[in-house]
Amino acid sequence: MGERKTVVVGVTGGVAAYKALDVISKLKKADLDVHVIMTEHSTKFVNPLSFQSLSQNMVVTDMFAEPKAWEIQHISLAKKADLMLIVPATVNIIGKVANGIADDMLSTTIMATKAPVVFAPAANTNMFLNPIVQNNIRKLREYGYKFIDPDEGRLACGDTGSGKLADTKLISDIAISMLYDVKDLKGKKVLVTAGPTIAAIDPVRYITNRSSGKMGYAIAEEARDRGADVILVSGPCKLEKPFDVDVVNISTNEEMLKAVEKHFEESDIVIKAAAVADYKPKTYSNEKIKKGENGLNLELERDNDILKKLGSMKKNQVLVGFAAESHDLINNAVAKLHNKNLDFIIANDITCSDTGFASSDNKVTILCRDGKNISLPKMSKRMVARELFNLINEKR
Ligand code: CTP
Repeated sequence: MGERKTVVVGVTGGVAAYKALDVISKLKKADLDVHVIMTEHSTKFVNPLSFQSLSQNMVVTDMFAEPKAWEIQHISLAKKADLMLIVPATVNIIGKVANGIADDMLSTTIMATKAPVVFAPAANTNMFLNPIVQNNIRKLREYGYKFIDPDEGRLACGDTGSGKLADTKLISDIAISMLYDVKDLKGKKVLVTAGPTIAAIDPVRYITNRSSGKMGYAIAEEARDRGADVILVSGPCKLEKPFDVDVVNISTNEEMLKAVEKHFEESDIVIKAAAVADYKPKTYSNEKIKKGENGLNLELERDNDILKKLGSMKKNQVLVGFAAESHDLINNAVAKLHNKNLDFIIANDITCSDTGFASSDNKVTILCRDGKNISLPKMSKRMVARELFNLINEKR
């Protein structure tokens, strides 16, 4: 990303107003400059001081608080905004904007800005589904305003239905993604694998590994934000499904192989971040294995080396693998790069306790087929993904 971007967050008067605090915290973590405009009603739900503390900017609440200055203020925030995010958006603000009403600081700023405006509505189901409201939403969509649809769920009023504010991570992820101006993967198809695979022993037991999936998910999200069409083949992990990414959930080595083979040919870039099990039990017991007096020997047999298969099928695809090593990092990684016919391999030392597997950070060396090595300092997995795509694009 180039210069620091500005998000103007409009908070309107609904019970979900407190959730906007969480959205702002996430935007700040992404190093965005955040300014908050609160409607008068929203200040009855949450104290502006909370928004001021989190955004580290003065909160604008009243258009007439500073006589003569207001005009400058609403115009300046409207100009400063790279994105406006209305969270939560009541049916009232939706109705006002849809009908050209600008009678307070938030509605005037929305009207004056040329930045994209995103509404994240939250309302009682009947209010939200009211045809007048739905018509207003349709009208605003036609004008280019964006909506993050509310979820279904139990609402503050006790009703169950549509109208619950969308997940705060989804809201902040969409905002961050919209502000990402590097779109160098537009038109490209990127296939990513992530997480562990599992090999079943009997109906209740299985063998797996400690992969959290974080590295592969970060790669998928980075590719999406740079404009790619992304397919993420994911082993079982606890991470949320990233938006606008086609996720294929699998469990075993065999299922992962089938899924990647299906999409390999049409892909431009294939990145295998998954920790694939190399062995599976030789026999699967249909019945639960009962314990006996003695120990139990489990015989394992080799399973598919998926990446090696892809290396042998490769035509124009850029193929990237990972090498998780506990010793002789570079030599082992170089051997895998050639043995599996890769273009890049990302080597990480799994003996470092604060990086790798479950951590959000990683410290890696990226090795290129032409012999170039890039050792990166410890950084977030998202930043590793960014460096990887920078390098892929540089070499293409
Ligand atoms: N990989 C794969 N299929 C396997 C094993 C690994 O596709 N059965 C892929 C991983 O997704 C990763 C790369 O191969 O991109 C390297 O995985 P790693 O486990 O480090 O290497 P292995 O080839 O399995 O070698 P070893 O376990 O002996 O280190």
